[in-house]
Formats: sequence, C-alpha cells, structure tokens
Amino acid sequence: MKQSIMIALSKGRILKETLPLLKQAGIEPTEDLNSRKLIFPTNHSHINLLIVRATDVPTYVEYGAADMGVSGKDVLLEHGSQALYEPLDLKIAECKLMTAGPIGREPGSGRLKVATKFVNIAKRYYAEQGKQVDIIKLYGSMELAPLVGLADKIIDVVDTGNTLRANGLEPQELIAHISSRLVVNKAAMKVKLHELKKIIDGLKQAVLNTT
Ligand code: ADP
Ligand code: PRP
Ligand code: MG
Repeated sequence: MKQSIMIALSKGRILKETLPLLKQAGIEPTEDLNSRKLIFPTNHSHINLLIVRATDVPTYVEYGAADMGVSGKDVLLEHGSQALYEPLDLKIAECKLMTAGPIGREPGSGRLKVATKFVNIAKRYYAEQGKQVDIIKLYGSMELAPLVGLADKIIDVVDTGNTLRANGLEPQELIAHISSRLVVNKAAMKVKLHELKKIIDGLKQAVLNTT
C-alpha cells in the first residue's frame, strides 16, 4: 500500500494558483473545495488536501501533521524555522514585501512606529540597520494604521500597489521578493521519499511548463 500523503494549502490565492499546478502533476480534488470540510480527498486515494490558515501551513508541515504544503515566502520568513525543506519555488502569488508610508510625508524625529503582521521580519529588518523602532502587531488592513496615526509606516506585501495608492500611501524600501514555496517535512522526506519525490518532480515540471 502507498504511504499516505497530506498536503496543506490555504484558501484564496494559494489554493487558486496551486490547484492548476497540482492538476498538471496529476493530482485533483474529487470533492467541492468550497464546502465547510477541511480535509479533501483527491483522485489518488493516498493523497489528501488539508485546508488551513495561510500562516498555519509551516506549523502543520513542521510538526508532520502535513507532509508538505504551499506557503508564501513572507509567511516562511516570519515563521522563521529551519525545520522545513523548501525544494521548489512555485512562482505563484508573486509580490514584494515592502515598507510603505504616507505619500510625501517623512516621519518626525521621534522613534519610528511601524505597524505590521510581520513582527519578526520587521524586528530583523530594523535591527540589521541598527534602528530602534516600535513595532505594532496587526492582523490585517495594515494600510489603515498610518491614516489614523497608529503608526508612521507599515510593512506589508505589495503587488499592483493599488491598495497603497487607494489609501494615500507609497511603497518605500524593498525588503524581499516573495513567491510561494513548496515546503516539506524533513522526517517525511526520508520516510516517504518515493511518494513525495513523485509529487515534487510533478510540480517541478508543472512550474517549468507554466513559466
Ligand atoms: P491571507 O489570507 O493570509 O492574507 P492570502 O491568500 O491573501 O492569505 O495570501 C497568501 C500569500 O500570497 C501571502 O503569504 C503572500 O505570499 C501572497 N500574497 C499576498 N497578497 C498578495 C497580492 N496582493 N498579490 C500577490 N501575492 C500576494
Ligand atoms: C494583500 C496585501 C495588500 C494587498 C496588496 O491583501 O495585504 O493589502 O494584497 O496588493 P496590491 O498591491 O495589488 O493592492 P489581500 O488582497 O490578500 O487581502 P487580505 O487583507 O484579505 O489579506
Ligand atoms: Mg491576503
């Protein structure tokens, strides 16, 4: 019998952009993913898809509850663990992690206040520059923070820049280019090498065919 494989994905962009790659690799869900279920069978009886929050994907894979998953590099940098293999750049959900602030307004001379959901990335980024800043943790809609005086700047992902522009903000410093990565549990990579390698190779070919 084939060893069972759990693949962790998150709703939204990652699911939407990963499904065509999985399909090219010969893996397709066999039930409607819009249902309230969280585990979905595929056309391979030993492969199941888990739907988790985007920020939880590295955790599921690190602890081996999922053998592999798809996660934004921003989420991986924030999670900050060396415990995952990252064998493949899927080249999907591409964007940039940036600082941003109100157009044409330089922050005052006081200590800079930076609002973000990427607290660890922000700490590392400003520490590398030797800057002392106050980091304010938010869970979303970061663009609002400078508008209402909660922060001077934000750190968030930027794609078209439309969200920044719509809120009178401009992109400033580039922190990292972001895309989604395939991540694999290290122990599973040993124990389930054969089954996992088939999926990794299938996805690798799918990425090559797509780009
Ligand atoms: P969440 O609900 O956690 O915001 P998303 O589906 O919006 O999840 O984002 C998943 C991943 O897609 C992020 O971790 C990031 O890498 C990438 N991403 C986020 N926003 C954008 C965007 N506007 N354009 C392209 N990629 C994005
Ligand atoms: C993301 C991100 C920005 C926006 C950037 O939000 O948090 O707000 O996209 O993209 P843009 O530069 O093309 O405007 P998302 O659409 O994921 O909404 P969310 O708040 O539900 O995460
Ligand atoms: Mg989002």
